[in-house]
Amino acid sequence: MHLDSWAKKAKDHGYRSRAVFKLEEILRKIKFDNTNGKVLDIGSSPGGWSQYIIRNYPKKEVYAIDVLDMESIEGVCFIKEDIHNIDEIETLYKNKGSFELVISDIAPNLTGISAVDIENVYELNMLTISIANRYLQKSYGCFIMKTFQNNMLKILRENMAIYFDMVQTYKPAASKKQSGEIYLYGVK
Ligand SMILES: C[S@@+](CC[C@H](N)C(=O)[O-])C[C@H]1O[C@@H](n2cnc3c(N)ncnc32)[C@H](O)[C@@H]1O
Repeated sequence: MHLDSWAKKAKDHGYRSRAVFKLEEILRKIKFDNTNGKVLDIGSSPGGWSQYIIRNYPKKEVYAIDVLDMESIEGVCFIKEDIHNIDEIETLYKNKGSFELVISDIAPNLTGISAVDIENVYELNMLTISIANRYLQKSYGCFIMKTFQNNMLKILRENMAIYFDMVQTYKPAASKKQSGEIYLYGVK
């Protein structure tokens, strides 16, 4: 499908971002099902991924966090906060260890200075891996994280492999080929 068609499809379906179709592809791969469970959406604004989860998996309890505002979505508990402070958010902290799925589309503001951007992405991704490990259930859980194709990708993947039995790198069809973004997902 042409890239603009993804944006049109998102609009036609009432989604806030075309990123929902990247998530959709990966959820199919991990065979995510609509049983009761908790989902944590990290870097959630404007809310496409949260919308997608609550609409297609209505039995899930969705929690979303972003440093920016997010227009409310019925059934989604949104917290406006920096993820560096996640352990200080009581609503989330009391659910630590009980999530079934953690999804992260988080991206730092780019400076245009390659070395700085790579370092910032790496730092946020490492923090996100640590959050996923601590907030997911001990016995079972899935994690999906956006990152970028650079020299730190291998290290990120190795770090995920410490906590997840199965780790995959995936470039969704809905992701712009020239963007360099890529997704890692893991299942334990
Ligand atoms: C690409 S957008 C997410 C799009 C979303 N998945 C959707 O479908 O609508 C990335 C988000 O990460 C957020 N973000 C970046 N750094 C953050 C941080 N330290 N804490 C919380 N959110 C952060 C940004 O504010 C931005 O809204």
